[in-house]
Amino acid sequence: MKKIMLVFGTRPEAIKICPLVNELKTRKGIQTVVCVTGQHRQMLDSVLEIFNVKPDYDLSIMKEGQTLFDITAAILEKIKAVLEKEKPDVVLVHGDTSTAFVSALACFYLQIPVGHVEAGLRTRNIYSPYPEEFNRQAISIISRYNFAPTRLAADNLINEGKDPSSVYITGNTVIDAMQHTVRDDYRHPELDWVGDGKLIFITAHRRENLGEPMHRMFRAIRRVLGEHPECRAVYPIHMNPAVRRAADEELGGCDRIHIIEPIDVFDCHNFEARCYLCLTDSGGIQEECPSYGKPVLVMRDTTERPEGLRAGTLRLVGTDEEVIYSNFTELLENKDAYGAMAHACNPYGDGRACKRIADILELGTYEPWTGG
Ligand code: UD1
Ligand code: UDP
Repeated sequence: MKKIMLVFGTRPEAIKICPLVNELKTRKGIQTVVCVTGQHRQMLDSVLEIFNVKPDYDLSIMKEGQTLFDITAAILEKIKAVLEKEKPDVVLVHGDTSTAFVSALACFYLQIPVGHVEAGLRTRNIYSPYPEEFNRQAISIISRYNFAPTRLAADNLINEGKDPSSVYITGNTVIDAMQHTVRDDYRHPELDWVGDGKLIFITAHRRENLGEPMHRMFRAIRRVLGEHPECRAVYPIHMNPAVRRAADEELGGCDRIHIIEPIDVFDCHNFEARCYLCLTDSGGIQEECPSYGKPVLVMRDTTERPEGLRAGTLRLVGTDEEVIYSNFTELLENKDAYGAMAHACNPYGDGRACKRIADILELGTYEPWTGG
């Protein structure tokens, strides 16, 4: 029996790794141990509840306005005892958060093999996104199993010198998570408020956008909404107090936008599926919206998800106020430009990524994902 420990701590990691926890639990040859760092609290707990995942360990490290030093030091200090007690055969981490990087580092210190889910995404600029690009590159140095979501991500790893036999193309587990969330009969009071208007779905939280870039993003959005009475924007706001201050200063009092508390993943996918377009700096939303055929204006200077750019459903608009303003306006006023982006495609997976990862870990063999 192989003991697999999964360590995660933020909302997006939980959304993408809970389906894997549940898949691994069905495997006879695998014993599953779940350790959450609690880097997020409310936003993590809501996902655990939806997927009915009950952690064996909770390091409960979150504090308000935490710095990268706080997160790194707290996890490193607390996870050692858990790893030493459980002695897992493999530890799985996901993506690019500080939880993932620090947990992988702790495994390295104890010489425990690491499996990296969503491996191989790259911008090659360690300050964009910050600190995520550094985190994922550093995990790749350590990891023994590299579960790349796409062929491109696998090529990135192999070109960096990773042993090809350690790289597996699985699809992204977020597509697995999306299989059962969107419903035709879905209702929500915010969607009633939007009515026949155009739903503009907004999220923002990236560390490198905090401060002036985020103010510019919000000012551009407010200007466009002011000129387009057909639009109703819904913005489930991240719990970071710095994000909330900026949104309050720039968007407060605008009656075409509803800023609401974070919604659960079930609501989020249904909002994405019904929106006219999305403005975001999120990573995960860049993977989800294309399969609903919804254009995404990515308010970042770089993206590690070029598959969506290539497919035409994502457009990188940076954080300059005029650039966001003109791209957003164009998609509202130019039907051809909108039509060129609004087509469903799925370069990120087929909903069977968890099965593939579990097969690799349990049986040592799998059928690679060949789409994308
Ligand atoms: C983290 C990840 C980022 C990921 C994002 C997903 C790092 C360095 N950053 O960034 O890669 O894209 O999560 O959302 O790993 N807070 C709460 N309750 C919560 C969650 C957050 O109050 O449930 C507040 C706290 O004040 C916390 C702050 O938000 O200190 C920031 O959280 P943190 O995890 O440090 O950064 P994120 O921007 O969420
Ligand atoms: N999400 C959610 N509720 C929200 C906003 C986002 O459930 O209010 C989901 C979204 O569907 C996606 C994930 O959270 O699966 C993205 O998380 P986030 O943007 O926080 O992080 P990133 O993907 O940028 O790391």
